[in-house]
Amino acid sequence: MASAGSSPLKILLVGSAGVGKSSLMSRFVHNRFCSRYRATIGADFFTKVMELEGQRVTVQLWDTAGAERFQSLGMALYRGSHCCVLVFDVTVATSFQAVAAQRAEFLMQADPPSPKQFPFVLLGNKTDLPGRQVSPREAEEWCAQTQAQYFETSAKDGTGVALAFHSASQAALRQV
Ligand code: GTP
Repeated sequence: MASAGSSPLKILLVGSAGVGKSSLMSRFVHNRFCSRYRATIGADFFTKVMELEGQRVTVQLWDTAGAERFQSLGMALYRGSHCCVLVFDVTVATSFQAVAAQRAEFLMQADPPSPKQFPFVLLGNKTDLPGRQVSPREAEEWCAQTQAQYFETSAKDGTGVALAFHSASQAALRQV
């Protein structure tokens, strides 16, 4: 079983550039938000100790770079993940359209033992902004087809963030 003393649960965040992956992690881990955009170079990780199902669990959250030019880390980064969090921006339709290919790429690189059972969590981020281009229904339909869980979040005001990462961590724990 994963505990604070044993190997951490590995959760990878994937999504197009600028959708808010770093901001979601920073909101969840440090309860902070910064409106300045600094593209992630390569990958970065944060750890958080959580109480899950009556045990202390260390969760390692990996923030991957959305920008194409930094996406060469591939297998080494994806391997050993226990859950993949796919992030899009609800105000940018193309970021939602990209999610299917990002899921496929994750499965190819991570090569999990049971790909059909591998847990994906989809986050529709930036719900605080006006000008939504992706409805909750569209996102939920995609999740019904791919057996992912859907959450709407705002890294800016904190809506849904703790719940989403808690669910991702629980799904990750079930993979151990
Ligand atoms: P890459 O590192 O390039 O992959 O980007 P990223 O997905 O990590 O995005 P990042 O967290 O750097 O956020 C990009 C921009 O969007 C920043 O200016 C953030 O402040 C802003 N942002 C992120 N989340 C939200 C949100 O929920 N609401 C609003 N209004 N802005 C957000």
